[in-house]
Amino acid sequence: TWTTGNVIEEQVEAIREQVGTKRAICGLSGGVDSAVAAALVQKAIGSQLTCVYVDHGLMRKGETEQVEKDFVAATGVQLKVVDAQQRFLDALAGVSDPEEKRKIIGREFIRVFEQAQAEIVAEGDASGEPVEFLVQGTLYPDIVESGGGTGTANIKSHHNVGGLPEDLEFRLVEPLRQLFKDEVRMVGQELGLPEEIVQRQPFPGPGLGIRIVGEVTKERLDLLREADAIAREELTAAGLDREIWQCPVVLLADVRSVGVQGDGRTYGHPIVLRPVSSEDAMTADWTRMPYDVLARISTRITNEVRDVNRVVLDVTSKPPGTIEWE
Ligand code: XMP
Repeated sequence: TWTTGNVIEEQVEAIREQVGTKRAICGLSGGVDSAVAAALVQKAIGSQLTCVYVDHGLMRKGETEQVEKDFVAATGVQLKVVDAQQRFLDALAGVSDPEEKRKIIGREFIRVFEQAQAEIVAEGDASGEPVEFLVQGTLYPDIVESGGGTGTANIKSHHNVGGLPEDLEFRLVEPLRQLFKDEVRMVGQELGLPEEIVQRQPFPGPGLGIRIVGEVTKERLDLLREADAIAREELTAAGLDREIWQCPVVLLADVRSVGVQGDGRTYGHPIVLRPVSSEDAMTADWTRMPYDVLARISTRITNEVRDVNRVVLDVTSKPPGTIEWE
């Protein structure tokens, strides 16, 4: 019979057998899959595992702390955090084109991650064992999709922690390759991972970098982080997290509109709310969410976030709109 307990037991044994006394590394993205994969491997081989987290500065409010503090506290994993925020900002300076942003973020991510890997390999540890394995959070649907040749058009250049080049001389450990997403969440819960990580909705690898329409700057990221945090807080408080597949919050940094606040004219930016309902993100519909929740989010964002004087709702299905704006 399928129980999370059985899955964990089986995988722990399989991982121990595969890795033996060697060492392994694992990239953490803040997402569910890499977190659960890492937690399973940690349970199996403990200090033989080292995790790497690249802080690209494009995460939402509190997400980096979730990995650095809560995930580490829950698992006891050894974590190497690379603060690459300035590097990403420099690389993105002056760039507004969505595809170009995606390529830059993907490229920089791989460079930083590979450098961290190389450092871990070179430094060694007290055991003297070589680092031979790379842990990946590949799920069953990922395997079916990539091998099954479903012919899905590649509309946007996606990037994941898993999207690494092929010239690495690591062997792969993929403890989730027989599982579906909901099963991964159950396993994560059983392993004691924080609720915020286990129940996290989909979030794109390039992060907030593709939710700022226009150039990505530190100020704009901070502003969007505030608006996004308010929207998430209110959606959670309204009990809508399960009903809504995800709700991108987008900053139209290149657009300004006139407003009035207090006794003065404002000339600020709009924030777009993009709540969608979906089964698999291939198609989606905009979520008919309660007006009073929309009203609360709008009031709070315009009151609390500087330079934002308008909140608009995206009422486009996918197709023709994609879920993300870039
Ligand atoms: P779109 O915008 O294509 O998004 O309708 C479909 C789903 O994919 C997510 N998304 C990404 N996920 N790396 C990811 O891991 C990416 O580069 C990426 N781009 C979009 C998006 O949030 C939605 O769930």
